[in-house]
Amino acid sequence: MSMQVVSDPWETQSIVSSMRMNGWIVGCVPTMGALHEGHASLIEQARNECNFVVATIFVNPTQFGPNEDFTKYPRTLEADLEVCRKAGADLVFTPTAEVMYPQSAQTIVRVNQMSSVLEGAHRPGHFDGVTTVVAKLLNITQPHNAYFGQKDFQQQLIIRRMVSDLNMPVQIITCPIVREADGLAMSSRNRYLSASDRKTAAEISAALRLAETLSRDSTLAPQEIAAEMSAHLTRQPGIELQYAVVCNADTLEPLQHRGTDAVALIAVRVGTTRLIDNCRLSLC
Ligand code: PAJ
Repeated sequence: MSMQVVSDPWETQSIVSSMRMNGWIVGCVPTMGALHEGHASLIEQARNECNFVVATIFVNPTQFGPNEDFTKYPRTLEADLEVCRKAGADLVFTPTAEVMYPQSAQTIVRVNQMSSVLEGAHRPGHFDGVTTVVAKLLNITQPHNAYFGQKDFQQQLIIRRMVSDLNMPVQIITCPIVREADGLAMSSRNRYLSASDRKTAAEISAALRLAETLSRDSTLAPQEIAAEMSAHLTRQPGIELQYAVVCNADTLEPLQHRGTDAVALIAVRVGTTRLIDNCRLSLC
């Protein structure tokens, strides 16, 4: 079966409906394009677990702040379709902003609390844009399973909350972070980095590895580990630290004591590029 590329939501919905009616398990992988191996790994996992794989490519304007990179966000549709094809997508949904957000649209999906900390604090309104567009994409593509990357840890947590709160009949699957050889998490924004910024950016995952090593020392409290990550990043010329924290992996509250599922989360600016990364910590 050759891969279909469809920009109309109703047509997508009707194709997927008939697949579901035939008993096929449908998987969806939402993306904003500029696809790399991280995205491909999500599509491949969906391919392994589902019979019909839908990838979506839509640079969602509502999740970008006024001073963010919406207009310069890389748009590489032809190369993206090739990545989708190779990774095993059956259908790629490529809507326009006009169709996703007609003038008459008035509905916003908001997950409170979790959307206003960390990324939400640095990017006001960002997660309202994410949850609204993901709710729409899930309604259009009607998947049994939807695949998200751990790379955007807070995003997958918020989407899980939304799906649970709204009784949406979809299973959210979180996939591992795909990294470059030096540890930098793959990101569509890495292509903004100059050669020297690109080198500096490897220190983000180095700080996470430091946290992982320190986490094995049972005498260290979560906040001491966070302080060491911060110190590591603050020492690096060319890195502007936004946060380096150790949080409860379910609630994202700063973790005071060991013994709970934890996640170390980092956001920095390298040059003009904002980068995030994270890793789970086992703090028994
Ligand atoms: P985008 O940044 O294109 O990412 C699409 C999906 O790929 C997300 O689930 C993200 O976590 C995952 N991803 C990105 N880099 C990854 C990596 N290195 N390893 C594994 N997975 C990775 O996230 C968005 O788009 C948007 O917010 C979206 C959910 C599509 C809503 O507009």
